[in-house]
Amino acid sequence: MKAHDYIERRVGVLSVLILLVISFGGLAEIVPLFHMQKTTTPVEGMTPWTALELEGRDIYIREGCHVCHTQMVRPFRAETERYGHYSVAGESVWERPFLWGSKRTGPDLARLAGKYSDDWHRVHLYNPRDVVPESNMPAFPWLFQQTLDGRDTARKMQLMQSMGVPYTDEQIASARQDVRGRTEIDALVAYLQGLGRVMQDR
Ligand code: HEC
Repeated sequence: MKAHDYIERRVGVLSVLILLVISFGGLAEIVPLFHMQKTTTPVEGMTPWTALELEGRDIYIREGCHVCHTQMVRPFRAETERYGHYSVAGESVWERPFLWGSKRTGPDLARLAGKYSDDWHRVHLYNPRDVVPESNMPAFPWLFQQTLDGRDTARKMQLMQSMGVPYTDEQIASARQDVRGRTEIDALVAYLQGLGRVMQDR
């Protein structure tokens, strides 16, 4: 075949055509998701992270918790029996960046809310071996010393608001005083206790 011959002999043309085919395939998979209600509307009853939880989330990212922990329960029996309801798209519509992760050195945390007490988390984060002797999770003792000044909290919330997260102006106005002086461990534990809150009893 002439056309086939022509394309196969020209690396440039072949590359462009391959790129076109792959892009079309990608778009056909991705674009419909933008228009599906299921993937764009928040789960019923979901509320945005409070100022303190939002700061906790940033500490979670800073400390690299997402490198060892996923927040994504896959829809398989082995997963749902261990963790709870599988993850749904509506839980993540306000998550920027999302923290689904891809590597489980430790367990998934998507359904952590209420599994342990605040005190358990504090002891565990201070030194995991005190509560789980065989643990190889690192200790994070500095979180108990460092406090938040809340200087950027309102701006972070404003940014989220501009991307569609329904923060009220009052929440933004009180953000600084909500977090100022709190320790980083307070913020992180508040965040952990909110993980999967909305999916409980489902
Ligand atoms: C080097 C990998 C690693 C990192 C980094 C890490 N963890 Fe872990 N985590 C583990 C392992 C392994 C376990 C299981 C043993 C245990 O419970 O300590 C675990 C367990 C946990 C648990 C108990 C979960 C359950 O359902 O029992 C929580 C909560 C937790 N980690 C939170 C965190 C937080 C928050 C951070 C960041 C500040 C973090 N981890 C960072 C490896 C890690």
